[in-house]
Amino acid sequence: MEENLKITFAPDILKDRVLCELKSRGGEYMQLMSYYSSAMLEVETKFKVLNIEYSSRFDRNPIETIKTRLKSPKSIIEKMNRIGVPVSAENIEHNLNDVAGVRVICSFVDDIYKLADMLAVQDDVYVVKTKDYIKNPKPSGYRSLHLIVETPIFLSNEKRYMRVEVQLRTIAMDFWASLEHKLRYKKDIPADAAQEIARQLYDCAEAASKTDQEMLAIRRRIEASGFKTGIE
Ligand code: GTP
Ligand code: MG
Repeated sequence: MEENLKITFAPDILKDRVLCELKSRGGEYMQLMSYYSSAMLEVETKFKVLNIEYSSRFDRNPIETIKTRLKSPKSIIEKMNRIGVPVSAENIEHNLNDVAGVRVICSFVDDIYKLADMLAVQDDVYVVKTKDYIKNPKPSGYRSLHLIVETPIFLSNEKRYMRVEVQLRTIAMDFWASLEHKLRYKKDIPADAAQEIARQLYDCAEAASKTDQEMLAIRRRIEASGFKTGIE
């Protein structure tokens, strides 16, 4: 209330300065988000190009779907608060790797590694970090291959490297992760039931992984018999 009064009675020049500062900070944030959107688009396009090339070489599409998302302002603020860093455009860029996210849903497990390798060898892509939650699943049962990559975007007068989080997973891994994510946010589950539910979810992840391995074995068997798979 007192703050409001101060602003109400402040001389116009002071009010203008406050407004100006807010606008410029908001502008900086919006500009940063536009850079992340552009980087996300670049990475998405790289995967689309790889999908086209791969399907012309092997008569098979390794990618089922690509999803992109920009982290919401609410999630950005929450994460900055969690790591204890003041929120500013500069700090966001230095501290967060997952503002821009590209999720690549693949048909088979081996496609994940092929696509990751094909992206990594591109001369304008730098892999900053790799987390292989397929070889080393999380205690929850979560599986995916995570890459933090840096890629340039070309602006009117500069070339700017931006970070993008890439998550590669199969349809089965995505099915599990999506449902587990929804269920995790169900409130009021008593602690003893929560433990049992976590175990059930873990078992589901194991079952999904087993199905992935079997599907890959079936594809390989069909290929070995001389038939092509997945011509579209
Ligand atoms: P965040 O602060 O959540 O980004 O964690 P981090 O920076 O340590 O990254 P991490 O390697 O744990 O991957 C984070 C992302 O992976 C999450 O935003 C989810 O998209 C996904 N993820 C990781 N663990 C799980 C899980 O147990 N269940 C589901 N559904 N998704 C997960
Ligand atoms: Mg994250």
